[in-house]
This record gives sequence, C-alpha cells and structure tokens, in this order.
Amino acid sequence: MTADPSKPAIAVLGSINMDLVTTTEQRPAPGETVLGTGFAMVPGGKGANQAIAAQRAGGAVEFLGAVGDDVFAGALRGVLNDSGVGTGRLRTVTGPSGIAAIVVDAGGENSIIVVGGANAAMTALTDADLAVIAAADILLCQLEIPVDTVAAAVMHASANRTVVVLNPSPAQHLMADLWAHVDVAVVNSGEARHLGSDLEPVAHLVITHGADGATYRGPNGRELSQSSPRVEAIDTTGAGDTFTGALAAAWHRGPEAALAWASTAGALATTTLGASSSIPTQERIEAALPPR
Ligand code: RIB
Repeated sequence: MTADPSKPAIAVLGSINMDLVTTTEQRPAPGETVLGTGFAMVPGGKGANQAIAAQRAGGAVEFLGAVGDDVFAGALRGVLNDSGVGTGRLRTVTGPSGIAAIVVDAGGENSIIVVGGANAAMTALTDADLAVIAAADILLCQLEIPVDTVAAAVMHASANRTVVVLNPSPAQHLMADLWAHVDVAVVNSGEARHLGSDLEPVAHLVITHGADGATYRGPNGRELSQSSPRVEAIDTTGAGDTFTGALAAAWHRGPEAALAWASTAGALATTTLGASSSIPTQERIEAALPPR
C-alpha cells in the first residue's frame, strides 16, 4: 500500500516481449507473400504494457516477470526502468526472451503471434513475489505466463485483501473456483463471448468494444456505458493493455471515473505505432479526457 491513496501500489504479474512489428497495406492471406512498408522492434508483452500503462496513468507499479539472457533482454528491462516501473522482481533466465511477431495493416488492425520464451519460466512465485502481492493495493494479471502461477497469485492476493484485476487474455477457461476471487475482469467483446458464463462470479466486469467504447456490469445490477474519444487510429496494438493498466491505476476513484480514464488512455494508445511506445502519460490522458 502506498502512503498516497491517489497513487495505488500495483503489482503486475505477466509477460514481457520484444515486439517485431511489420507494417503493410494488407495483411497476407494464407500462402500469400506481400510487401511490407516498415519494420520496428518495440518492447511489449501484455504484462509489461499494462505495467507501463498503470505507472504512466498514476500508479506505483512493481513488475513480476522474466526476461531471457539474449540480445533483447537489456531493452526489455530498460523500458520498464525508464518508465519508472519497479524491476526488483524481474528475473533473468537462461534462454530467449519472449517475442511477438506482429503485422499491422493500413487500417491499424493487427495479427499477433507470441512465442513465450522466458515468460514460460514463470512457473512459481517466490516469497518475495508473494510479499509484493500481499502489500499491493491491486494485483493485475493476464494469461501470457503459466496459468497456474496466475492462479496462485490470485488466491494469495484474495487472501490478503489485495484487489484482483484480471485481463484473461489470450482467453482461456480457468478453474471455475478462481473467478470468484477476481474482483475486476477486463475483456474485449470477443473474449467475453469466448468465456461466456465463466465471468458470472466476477464482481465487476468491464468489456471493451474497440472504438465503440466500453461497458461495465457491477454489483446490484449496476451498469455503465462509456464511449471512446474519436481519434485517428494508426495501430491498435497495446490499446487494450493501456486501457487495462489505466483502469487499474484509477480504480480507487470508482468504476465511472476509472472507465472514462481508461477509455481515453486506450484511444490515445492507438494514435502511435507500437505497444509500449504508444502508452500515454497521466498529463496526456488528463488533457484528452472528455468534459463530464
Ligand atoms: O496486447 C498486445 C501485446 O500482445 C503485444 O505487445 C505483444 O507482445 C503481445 O503480448
């Protein structure tokens, strides 16, 4: 817990990847070769993106994850450090770091293949990891590291009254008991369809609908709908992660304010190429926030 209640302590447990981003007019069909228009290497990974987003949006973030001992490791560790995210619980393991092969088309839509690398080595939590989770206001997780590790973290957070925010992406069915320990689930509309009734026990459910904004379903039948600011989207990679990280950073202000804050952050993230490179600061979010 931080001394400043407006700067929540957030433990982010998740993946960190080097994104190998190619841009092209149209993404290739199966068996087709197309010419690209550009290439960039940008640090990403759902865990790291959400950690950076939460930190830039006002949180005090500690990242729990792993990089390899390869050529990408320095840049991956560096982007977290440069963003002010705590890396005391970031391990270096033998072997390659996680990578994501990303194709972005002229409409800003993407296709992504993730190869887990070091992320797959997150098979257990240490006592120091557990202490960070227990002391945090919020635990934020996704599903790009082994699911059993996420489950152990969720149960530990729940036992220690740390609020659990889960972005179950890439979507997969988890053990049924776990969902009741998730305070806030953030899913896109495709993931919501895939997970269906699994999400019923979750107290607060946030569904993102791309440029159409987000919806919320909370206790006592409370429902909210939040539009997304109109922007010219260049690349949607990491926009959902930015939404989720910003939501976690603003959760203490209540669902309505947090949804507006997250939707603005997510929209801004689509205006620049790349994942971590596109995540807005608190000042940019504030400046773009629609008047209430
Ligand atoms: O959500 C976007 C992220 O998914 C990318 O940064 C990529 O690394 C994959 O994890």
